[in-house]
Amino acid sequence: MARSTPIKPPAAPFVDGVVAVRVRHAADLDAIAAASHDPETRRWLDDEPMDDEARRTSMARVEEAWRSGRATPLVIADAVTDEPVGIINLQFRDDNVATIAYSVFPGSRGRGIAPRAVQLLAAWAFGEVGLTQLLLEADEANLASVRVAEKSGFQRIDSRTVTKPDGVPHTTVVFARHRAET
Ligand SMILES: CC(C)(COP(=O)(O)OP(=O)(O)OC[C@H]1O[C@@H](n2cnc3c(N)ncnc32)[C@H](O)[C@@H]1OP(=O)(O)O)[C@@H](O)C(=O)NCCC(=O)NCCS
Repeated sequence: MARSTPIKPPAAPFVDGVVAVRVRHAADLDAIAAASHDPETRRWLDDEPMDDEARRTSMARVEEAWRSGRATPLVIADAVTDEPVGIINLQFRDDNVATIAYSVFPGSRGRGIAPRAVQLLAAWAFGEVGLTQLLLEADEANLASVRVAEKSGFQRIDSRTVTKPDGVPHTTVVFARHRAET
């Protein structure tokens, strides 16, 4: 799923004084690769840990995501030091709707970074990008992510339960947030 047109990476970071959401640089890959092996990240995200091959092709895949209008791979950084502290992106369903997905690196969790980043990205998504609805999906057992959705103004709209290969049923909660009417 993708937009009908490419999406242009933002020229300047989105900042709120504490975090910045900005384009991904090759210098971020060490931190992104390290976090991809974190057990908590692996528990909740389907992404494979980043091996050498995935790392080598990573920046090309980032460019392809923007160019194809499929997704916007961005980094959450410390607004002061610019050190990466997480990743966030929009995954487009079509020209109006995207799913927002995020992960905060282990040492930076529990400080409200994800809700700040979601807020900054939502402002761009509903503003310049022109989306009408954002979706957010979280395993209902992932209490931290469910809290991020709630704190970021998303409402629960649906849920689905699937039995994973381990034989255990998992329920995914779907949240939505609409562009504010003016
Ligand atoms: C989910 C995640 C992105 C939240 O990011 P965050 O910046 O830590 O978010 P917050 O600081 O707002 O904390 C959210 C909730 O996490 C819990 N939390 C608090 N301290 C925490 C800590 N040290 N470690 C983990 N979770 C903590 C709390 O329930 C908190 O909610 P509260 O503010 O109502 O108490 C982060 O935990 C993470 O990256 N987890 C692994 C990957 C993942 O689950 N991604 C989302 C997939 S849908």
